Amino acid sequence: MSNKSGRLSGKSCIVTGGARGLGRAIASAFVAEGASVLLTDIDEATGAKTAQEIGATFAAQDVSDEDRWPEIVKLCLDKFGGLDVLVNNAGLAQTGEGLSPEDSTLASWRRMFSINVEGVFLGCKAALPALRKQGSGSIINMSSVASLVPTPFFTAYGASKAAVAHLSTSVALHGASDKIRCNSVHPGQIQTNMHNGIIRDIAKKAGAPLAAVEADFASRIPMGAFQQAGDIAKTVLFLASDESAHITGTQMVVDGGMQLTN
Ligand SMILES: NC(=O)c1ccc[n+]([C@@H]2O[C@H](COP(=O)([O-])OP(=O)(O)OC[C@H]3O[C@@H](n4cnc5c(N)ncnc54)[C@H](O)[C@@H]3O)[C@@H](O)[C@H]2O)c1
Repeated sequence: MSNKSGRLSGKSCIVTGGARGLGRAIASAFVAEGASVLLTDIDEATGAKTAQEIGATFAAQDVSDEDRWPEIVKLCLDKFGGLDVLVNNAGLAQTGEGLSPEDSTLASWRRMFSINVEGVFLGCKAALPALRKQGSGSIINMSSVASLVPTPFFTAYGASKAAVAHLSTSVALHGASDKIRCNSVHPGQIQTNMHNGIIRDIAKKAGAPLAAVEADFASRIPMGAFQQAGDIAKTVLFLASDESAHITGTQMVVDGGMQLTN
């Protein structure tokens, strides 16, 4: 049921990569605060199920597909009558062999950038005219603590997330006079499918127990604990709401102090 006094009451939002993990938590928090949410994902079965469970509308989307973006924005305008918020959350992490600067392949680098960077660029590009028409808007781009610390064990991912952070500042300055805000969010470590997959891979390569690798990852967080998906959702919710009306071009780091140790 729509929450008429919610923090996002009356707002129409697109959340990409919303089938699971952080995207699901964000979409769910938005709906709970009164937003109409168009949840998109490349995983159609999970995306549709999630949308039904949380009270959002689902549309299949590969964020790296340029032609699909105008259709997604139009769908949001047609269904909800506007567009106020875009969350470019969908992303890919590197797992498997060849992650160092020497070992990474050009093919895996390009795949990473096509989703993590081009997907975000295309989303901003498609949303800006609609947000301008609306008279204001908020774009939130999912970066990572990996954009702020060196990632030789994760080369393309770190570089792609740094590109997202910089792109967000350009979009922020470009949109400022039209009251269109753009900020990047930089999570640290949250135990989603993505994070679990990375830990599994590292444990397998090192022949180490899963629990030991997990403990090693957690030990890099000064505050001593992984964040929860809901912690990231609360930050994104704030940036989507009018409570952050004058906040643009910032990097909101939600990492328990991890970046401070590098
Ligand atoms: N989990 C973490 O610790 C962490 C830390 C920092 C940043 N992030 C970032 O947060 C975002 C969400 O990560 P997560 O941990 O929830 O990951 P996840 O793998 O659990 O979920 C990602 C979602 O994006 C979807 N997706 C992947 N490629 C897509 C594409 N081309 N088009 C549309 N949808 C696509 C997947 O199907 C999935 O539903 C990502 O951008 C990730 O890089 C995550």
